[in-house]
Amino acid sequence: MRQAGRYLPGYRELRRAHSILEIIRNPQLAAKVASEPVLRFGFDGAIVFSDIILPLTTMGVNLELEEGVGPVIHEPLRTPDSVGHIFPGRVEDLTFIYRQIELLRETLPKVPVIGFAGAPFTLASYLIEGRYSREFEQTKSFMYRNTEAWGSLMNNLTETVIAYLKAQVRHGVEVLQLFDSWVGALSPNDFREYVKPYVQQILAEIVGVPRIYFGTSIAGLLQELSDLEFDVLGIDWRVNIGVAWREVGKKSVQGNLDPSTLLGGQVVALKEAKSILNEVSNRPGHVFNLGHGVLPQTDPAVVKAVVDFVHTHTER
Ligand code: CP3
Repeated sequence: MRQAGRYLPGYRELRRAHSILEIIRNPQLAAKVASEPVLRFGFDGAIVFSDIILPLTTMGVNLELEEGVGPVIHEPLRTPDSVGHIFPGRVEDLTFIYRQIELLRETLPKVPVIGFAGAPFTLASYLIEGRYSREFEQTKSFMYRNTEAWGSLMNNLTETVIAYLKAQVRHGVEVLQLFDSWVGALSPNDFREYVKPYVQQILAEIVGVPRIYFGTSIAGLLQELSDLEFDVLGIDWRVNIGVAWREVGKKSVQGNLDPSTLLGGQVVALKEAKSILNEVSNRPGHVFNLGHGVLPQTDPAVVKAVVDFVHTHTER
């Protein structure tokens, strides 16, 4: 996650001249940014350079991506009426994303291109809070008090996400990841009642490519998640990967190195990487990954050391 980001000098240089949205809307630049870390470090997948909020721009939402903050929505949805202005997005307008995917397939013929979308709860939380929130009190209060409007918002988001993911598959992505980054804020009961049906609908509609469902702080949701139709569950470091694997049963797990261990230097990062590999002991389907985004302060040499270590210590 954020394998193409601010820890890379080339990316920082580019960001001096262009905003993140400018890069995303320019397929040549975006494909260059997305392929650079793959060529430099030998990652096994290239992730489309974009952001989860992009489809919201086709749903009548005004937003910005602020450095160090993330997505910011200027007029958050705080009333049932305001949800009435949100409609299913015209994802066919995101032609620059589809062009980027084609360019990535041409540039990196041997590496799978990973497409993605934000999941409805995580997208709704940005729409309602206006920006990342620690407790998500506005989102939860909206969800409890305006059940009907919540359902309509979640339906519109679900429809948009499905169309967007399908379009990415049509243009060549070979894996899809659904980012429900903030879903861990929910209790198992609330997840089941207010969110799970929409996630399941999205997963069920995607055919032909492996589906990864990702969330942070989801240790308490594992049981509830285990019957969703994903192929791989992406987890962060707050849960032991062996425990998560037992809980999701027949499916596989992706993760879960704490990105902060890379700030501790090579010895610390490799020790933790080794402990993850021991825990999964080469179970087929394990996707080694960080538990969340690469931090901007990360030394690229440590990233390289981790990639090489994982490649030499796993059967592929
Ligand atoms: O290399 C990649 O991973 C691909 C590109 C990618 C970005 N965002 C680019 C980006 C992906 C897959 C995302 C997904 C995304 N965006 C998620 C889901 C994954 C996760 O991290 O949980 C979420 C929650 C967002 C929303 C968002 N956008 C956040 C929280 C931030 C970070 C704020 C910050 O500045 O630290 C962003 C901005 C963002 N999106 C950056 C990048 C490379 C940092 C950017 C910059 O200013 O250039």
